[in-house]
Amino acid sequence: VFIMKLLVILLFSGLMTGCRGNSSYSLPPKLLLVSFDGFRADYLQNYEFPHLQNFIKEGVLVEHVKNVFITKTFPNHYSIVTGLYEESHGIVANSMYDAVTKKHFSDSNDKDPFWWNEAVPIWVTNQLQENRSSAAAMWPGTDVLIHNTTPSYFMNYSISVSFEERVNNITTWLSNSNPPVTFATLYWEEPDASGHKYGPEDKENMRRVLKEIDDLIGYLVQKLKMLGLWENLNVIITSDHGMTQCSENRWINLDLCIDRSNYSLIDLSPVAAVLPKINITEVYEKLKNCSPHMNVYLKKDIPDRYYYQHNDRIQPIILVADEGWTIVLNKSSSKLGDHGYDNSLPSMHPFLAAHGPAFHKGYKYSTINIVDIYPMMCHILGLKPHPNNGTFSHTKCLLVDQWCINLPEAIGIVIGALLALTTLTCLIIIMQNRLSVPHPFSRLQLQEDDDDPLIDL
Ligand SMILES: *[C@@H]1O[C@H](CO)[C@@H](O)[C@H](O)[C@H]1NC(C)=O
Ligand SMILES: *[C@@H]1O[C@H](CO)[C@@H](O)[C@H](O)[C@H]1NC(C)=O
Ligand SMILES: *[C@@H]1O[C@H](CO)[C@@H](O)[C@H](O)[C@H]1NC(C)=O
Ligand SMILES: *[C@@H]1O[C@H](CO)[C@@H](O)[C@H](O)[C@H]1NC(C)=O
Ligand SMILES: *[C@@H]1O[C@H](CO)[C@@H](O)[C@H](O)[C@H]1NC(C)=O
Ligand SMILES: *[C@@H]1O[C@H](CO)[C@@H](O)[C@H](O)[C@H]1NC(C)=O
Ligand SMILES: *[C@@H]1O[C@H](CO)[C@@H](O)[C@H](O)[C@H]1NC(C)=O
Ligand SMILES: *[C@@H]1O[C@H](CO)[C@@H](O)[C@H](O)[C@H]1NC(C)=O
Ligand SMILES: [Zn+2]
Repeated sequence: VFIMKLLVILLFSGLMTGCRGNSSYSLPPKLLLVSFDGFRADYLQNYEFPHLQNFIKEGVLVEHVKNVFITKTFPNHYSIVTGLYEESHGIVANSMYDAVTKKHFSDSNDKDPFWWNEAVPIWVTNQLQENRSSAAAMWPGTDVLIHNTTPSYFMNYSISVSFEERVNNITTWLSNSNPPVTFATLYWEEPDASGHKYGPEDKENMRRVLKEIDDLIGYLVQKLKMLGLWENLNVIITSDHGMTQCSENRWINLDLCIDRSNYSLIDLSPVAAVLPKINITEVYEKLKNCSPHMNVYLKKDIPDRYYYQHNDRIQPIILVADEGWTIVLNKSSSKLGDHGYDNSLPSMHPFLAAHGPAFHKGYKYSTINIVDIYPMMCHILGLKPHPNNGTFSHTKCLLVDQWCINLPEAIGIVIGALLALTTLTCLIIIMQNRLSVPHPFSRLQLQEDDDDPLIDL
């Protein structure tokens, strides 16, 4: 018997390693990470997305992704690919100033590696840890020499390259390159641009814009199917932040509170970064009571929950406008929608959908953090993650190779087990009563007779 058992175990382990060896040899896992800038989470509930809903039906959906403060484009895109809060990855705003080197950063002046080198994005790790390549279509930072490395295949940023061209080139790279492209990113500027222009409450315009987005998703999926990439490719569709309605009636004019000559303004709205030219305390005192719709923080007093303090690029004073309020310098702003506000506001959250062999089919989940995406992607690609602020277990329920029960399921299982046990006990009691009451002696005999074979089994 012992030898039989040993043989069975050997056979099974042989089969297991055989399978694993083959699959990892012939099919290295591949991942395409897609971002539609400014895709607010509840657009999914309030508008129709036939193509995206089909994608979700065969995959997973996370309804809210809690992003990082400040809820702006560059910082959140870098958190997705590093798993770090802004204070730890160093891209703390779309506009930055470094007092030591006197360098400036903006979305149109972003190519100096200095700004990016505080972290290692996943496309670099993918190329350095494994003999694999990465490809990128416009994701922020992918045209920068970060740690002396760009993706093997990338595009210099240009807003005028169409979505179709981005998709065509990225899918070409995914299909035929050696070493194989196993990680690719794709970025698109909408619905952010239209969200700013019309405001998210302009249903008519947003319906048109979001239908266009859905058609682009349809184009992407069709292209992947045509090229035979669809079945084996993992695809994540997500975003960096949401969008909220603004109004000319909700302006905070800094010129009414402080003379412009007293400070430099590094970033303006809805989170202003203020570098005082005179005594910091004096500037703080002037701004402190400037508006009831704006919080004013000395750097050391920025709330812990923002994880937005421990970096030299965060200025000595920051001003945080309330949702829907705009900080201005005595001039008009035509934005009807904006983002950047407190990251606990649902209007600031994006969503995440995913499809592919690594993901469950038809699974909905309420929320994860944006920094949790990075450890999940490393797991899918078999990469060792750099130290980060994400939690892998938050995403376990999305993945087919992980054991996970959520709370309702756990309660269901416990109740089910209790019900089954109760039913069984009742049955046994009833049977015992039936058997024991009319024939007390034969029951005893039966039990004696049954004992031996039971023990043998
Ligand atoms: C490995 O898997 C591929 C496709 O899944 C199959 O075609 C091939 O025969 C397998 N190789 C071995 C050695 O099992
Ligand atoms: C990007 O632009 C730089 C500088 O203009 C150029 O040297 C480089 O070849 C471009 N790279 C790609 C992939 O287009
Ligand atoms: C996409 O690929 C085509 C064909 O190789 C090439 O001509 C074009 O420049 C590429 N587009 C970008 C933005 O790199
Ligand atoms: C990586 O892949 C290239 C191209 O296939 C090959 O020439 C090289 O030897 C590989 N290096 C390692 C370390 O596997
Ligand atoms: C600061 O502003 C005040 C006016 O509020 C002005 O008198 C003063 O010169 C300014 N100081 C500097 C250093 O610009
Ligand atoms: C800044 O101003 C405050 C109050 O006006 C004063 O107590 C403090 O000494 C000043 N600090 C410097 C460095 O001038
Ligand atoms: C602010 O705007 C008002 C009205 O347009 C103008 O009178 C004033 O000079 C402006 N102040 C500054 C500092 O630009
Ligand atoms: C985030 O992760 C980095 C890297 O491990 C670490 O240095 C930092 O302390 C973490 N931040 C928090 C708030 O835990
Ligand atoms: Zn954005």
